Amino acid sequence: MLTTEIFEKIPDLKYVESAPETNAAEFEKVIRSRRSVRVYTDEGIPEEVMRTCLDLSLLAPNSSNLQPWEFYWVRDPQKKAQLARCCLNQPTAATAQELVVCVARLDTWHRNCRLMLERLKTSDTQVPDSVLTYYQKVVPLAYGQGPLYLWGPIKRLIGSLVALTRPLPRGPASKSDMRVWAHKSTALACENLMLSLRAYGFDSCPIEGLDSRRIQKLLNLPRAAEICMVVSAGKRAENGIYGRQIRFDKSDFVFEV
Ligand SMILES: Cc1cc2nc3c(=O)[nH]c(=O)nc-3n(C[C@H](O)[C@H](O)[C@H](O)COP(=O)(O)O)c2cc1C
Repeated sequence: MLTTEIFEKIPDLKYVESAPETNAAEFEKVIRSRRSVRVYTDEGIPEEVMRTCLDLSLLAPNSSNLQPWEFYWVRDPQKKAQLARCCLNQPTAATAQELVVCVARLDTWHRNCRLMLERLKTSDTQVPDSVLTYYQKVVPLAYGQGPLYLWGPIKRLIGSLVALTRPLPRGPASKSDMRVWAHKSTALACENLMLSLRAYGFDSCPIEGLDSRRIQKLLNLPRAAEICMVVSAGKRAENGIYGRQIRFDKSDFVFEV
């Protein structure tokens, strides 16, 4: 099972999904006008807009399509006030029209792998054998860590021996690997949420200045449900942005090698 050949072959499929025309200028406007907003007006966000933005969040790319995320749109006024308190009563949370707790799940991949297999087996389009093999065999091996994550060191040892002679994914092989794994995909979905809100004329702010344990308790979440960030949302107030957007010289960050 440590072979990686199934990744190499291009399957011979009939499925075609053509790319629609897009508007780069409008997309760039959405990206450039997204700012972290710290004070919101009293204007509410229509329920349908919130629902659409949450739907669009779920379209983010994610690792092995195992969708290790959850989004809690906190609508109960009392819970929302408690959540703002858990976000240290930062104005972006305290003045937000809406607050969404974005959660990275370390433990839902089993269920989602099963759901993937169900979907693939009942798909009306051709499914390559390699994809079925991936979810039946590779996923349990790659993401399974055993009780108390005990398989991790064994996986890492065997993996590093095999990787002496050829490329092989080195993880996830520990709880911290699984945390990084789940948070990566969840953060991408958070960006979808924030850009979607901007596209609909609303604003947002990602929040990690928060008490994650208290939020887990507030939402009755297990320990394997980690708070990735809270996203506040609303319409920017006149004093809602604290200054011009600052980015450092791109030569420090973008490399052509
Ligand atoms: C993971 C993450 C956590 C953040 N947490 C907070 C926060 O707790 N409070 C806050 O006011 N801004 C928070 N921010 C917003 C950043 O400060 C902001 O994105 C950064 O200063 C750049 O500004 P811009 O988003 O307007 O471009 C957070 C951003 C990210 C990505």
